[in-house]
Amino acid sequence: MRKEVIGNATLYLGDCLDVLPTLGPVDAVITDPPYGQRQNTNVVGKGGTRAYSIHDKRRKAAGGLHSTGIATRFPDTIHGDDRPFDPAPWVAAAPVVVLWGAHKFYSRLPDGGGWLLWDKVPTGKVRDQGDGEAAWINQNRPLRIYRLLWDGVCVGSAARHEVTAGQQRVHPTQKPEALMRWCIEQAGKPSVIFDPYMGGGSTGVAAMQLGLQFVGAEIEPVYFDIACERIENAQRQERLFA
Ligand SMILES: C[S@@+](CC[C@H](N)C(=O)[O-])C[C@H]1O[C@@H](n2cnc3c(N)ncnc32)[C@H](O)[C@@H]1O
Repeated sequence: MRKEVIGNATLYLGDCLDVLPTLGPVDAVITDPPYGQRQNTNVVGKGGTRAYSIHDKRRKAAGGLHSTGIATRFPDTIHGDDRPFDPAPWVAAAPVVVLWGAHKFYSRLPDGGGWLLWDKVPTGKVRDQGDGEAAWINQNRPLRIYRLLWDGVCVGSAARHEVTAGQQRVHPTQKPEALMRWCIEQAGKPSVIFDPYMGGGSTGVAAMQLGLQFVGAEIEPVYFDIACERIENAQRQERLFA
């Protein structure tokens, strides 16, 4: 298990179930776990270029994998995405718990709680993927909806919604930073947030933007490095802004 401390963030490269027992108390678990999509993430695209050129440079320097220089690819699969998600270790891991993708594993959640919805196509555009995603929150409360256009692989292109324009695609199932800021605010802006399945670090970036503390875990070194870099950049930006 590797540990990186970057200002307000502590990031672990390793299995989150190994990380969990080593942690002190956290105020919230806010996460977007894999839940059995069996998705092929070997996506080559314009939006993947920047993240993967960073990664490739590092690997090339270390004598590792390929470097195409232009379009490179994600790992073929997401760890854990070949089986249903078990929320049991997380539902009591913190006073506040928010689990994205929970519409796919609602039958394994405890009774009660509320829902946060993300409407990905507020324009009504017809698309072949799902029109939104749901997060379960362990609070009995009214359902809330956040509307933000997000077209996955096209993120960062000129045609995007103003809130997401300019963001790079760094992970095949990346969440928008603005969505995660909204989600953290809905959860009551908890002071210390743990994302056990942090991927490219969107929850951590949002936490930095809101001036909170963040703990993250990621099992895939490619995504871990990207998360470290994004979270460091987010802190630098916040300092400049301040
Ligand atoms: C759905 S993605 C999260 C994407 C993230 N929300 C983002 O915006 O980039 C889930 C992540 O969990 C990671 N993962 C899967 N099993 C894990 C485990 N046992 N411990 C830590 N990370 C794990 C995967 O490698 C993947 O990057």
